[in-house]
Amino acid sequence: MQGSLFEDDSPINAHNESLVRFRDLNDLYEQSKDCTKCRLAETRNNFVFGEGNPKAQIVVIGEAPGAEEDAQGRPFVGRSGKLLDKILEAIGFSREDVFICNIIKCRPPENRNPNLDEIQSCMPWLKTQLLLIKPKILLLLGRVAANTVLDNRQSMANLRGRILRWNGYDVIVTYHPAALLRNPNWKRHCWEDVKMLRSHYDSVC
Ligand code: URA
Repeated sequence: MQGSLFEDDSPINAHNESLVRFRDLNDLYEQSKDCTKCRLAETRNNFVFGEGNPKAQIVVIGEAPGAEEDAQGRPFVGRSGKLLDKILEAIGFSREDVFICNIIKCRPPENRNPNLDEIQSCMPWLKTQLLLIKPKILLLLGRVAANTVLDNRQSMANLRGRILRWNGYDVIVTYHPAALLRNPNWKRHCWEDVKMLRSHYDSVC
C-alpha cells in the first residue's frame, strides 16, 4: 500500500442502526426513494439511488445527478456517464460489475454545487449503502466527492495517484469524467489511476 493519509481503519460505525433498519439494498431503496430530508426533494424529478452489483467490491461515487440522471432516475447516464462506461471498460469492468452512485441523490437546481446541509442530510444514505454492499474499494470521482467522503480539503494533485484508507475501505481518487471532458489532458492521469485500481482489485479481491 502506498502512502496512507488516514489512520482510522475502523468500520464507519459498528453499531450503526441502519443495519437493523434496512434488510438489504432493495429495502434501503424503498425506504429512501421518497426522501424529503432536504430542499432538493422539491425540485427533483427522481431520487437517484444508484445501481449495479449489490455485492460489488468496487463502489464508484460521483457528486450529484445532472439533468439526464434526474430525468431517468439512474446515475451517470449523460455525457459524463458515457465516458465513465469507457473508463470502466478500459480496465475490464462493466457497469454491472461495480456499484455506481453519488454523494447527493437528488439533482441540485441548475447543477449548482450541493450545499453543506444537503450533503449532511444525504451522507447517511451513502454510508448505509456502503455498509450493506461491503465493498473493498471506493473510486471517488472528482474533488467534491473526495473532499466530502474523506472530510478534507486536499487538492486533486494530493489525493490522486495513490491508495488511501477511509473507514476500512481502500480509496482511490481520480478526476470526474466531466472534468476530463473539459480538460482532455487529464485523461492520462485518470488512466494511471484506474490502472492502479485494476491491479489493486486483482491483488485484494
Ligand atoms: N455527474 C455526477 O457526479 N453524477 C452523475 O450521476 C452524473 C454526472
